[in-house]
Amino acid sequence: MVSYKELGLVNTREMFKKAVAGGYAIPAFNFNNMEQLQAIIMAAAETKSPVILQVSKGARNYANQTLLRYMAEGAVAYAKELGWENPQIVLHLDHGDSFETCKSCVDFGFSSVMIDASSLPYEENIALTKKVVEYAHQFDVTVEAELGVLAGVEDEVSAAESHYTKPEEAIDFATRTGCDALAISIGTSHGAYKFTPEQCTKDPKTGRLVPPPLAFDVLHEIEKKLPGFPIVLHGSSSVPQEYVDMCNQYGGNLPNAVGIPEEQLREAAKSAVCKINIDSDSRLAMTGAIRKHLAENPSHFDPRQYLKPAREEMKKMYIHKIVNVLGSDGKAE
Ligand code: G3H
Ligand code: 13P
Ligand code: ZN
Repeated sequence: MVSYKELGLVNTREMFKKAVAGGYAIPAFNFNNMEQLQAIIMAAAETKSPVILQVSKGARNYANQTLLRYMAEGAVAYAKELGWENPQIVLHLDHGDSFETCKSCVDFGFSSVMIDASSLPYEENIALTKKVVEYAHQFDVTVEAELGVLAGVEDEVSAAESHYTKPEEAIDFATRTGCDALAISIGTSHGAYKFTPEQCTKDPKTGRLVPPPLAFDVLHEIEKKLPGFPIVLHGSSSVPQEYVDMCNQYGGNLPNAVGIPEEQLREAAKSAVCKINIDSDSRLAMTGAIRKHLAENPSHFDPRQYLKPAREEMKKMYIHKIVNVLGSDGKAE
């Protein structure tokens, strides 16, 4: 058993309280390789933003859970080396699918876990979430749960159709499970294809797809029923057109990729939404930069030659999200 406290990590409790009161959101960035992690830490250290490092099931399969945990421990030391005296870094399990997975992360030094039982019937979601909360809270590890189903298909996370979170269930769910934060469904979804072209309208000037707006009425109803309770938005990549274009211009094929407009995420961050999950934008920034570099430098074969600009591009993107979208800069001085 290793406590996250020994690793210099923090849980989400204080972080979320301040974020809800201050009208900003904490970035939750997924990582599965060193360059992503370096870019996240450089961006957080430079902007003095609290940050949540997320590890998904796909990341654990790809990179190994043990290695990722040691990388997060190293990230705390690295942040200090970069001049961030008191780094506020959370190591979070993203979309935990069982009690056993959550327990293994709690026992191994994660400071926060998500139990995603949202595809189970309501009462079973409550029972499993409660079991995880009871275990995790013994070690002061915070727990995120999910209510409602997100649309989209993304490797390990899929749902044929989405069901918005029912506001009346949110209060019952939060009270009975004792969870610390609740992921809700208001129209976001995982991946780079969040909406079909048929669901969108077309901007007459640019010809770009414009997605339907998020269900802010559902969010506000939940806020009213659970004042001050931390709300989480998954599937919140904005799928920046510049990265989609960069991929496509240099040999990629990402037709009709569309995400959540940043103005809507900015609006959500001002509400009780205090954690915003971003993974796909990092994938797009990295792939776009690598494709461009290799197309322009066909003789290069040292991975450092193309991973360095990819890391720079991701860092730029993370800083942009922190400063211009979530508003978490300077909140971890
Ligand atoms: O929530 C989904 C994340 O983007 C993780 O996806 O399982 O492919 O790493 P992944
Ligand atoms: P995106 O695919 O929109 O980046 O969402 C990531 C996510 O929700 C991770 O849990
Ligand atoms: Zn997610």
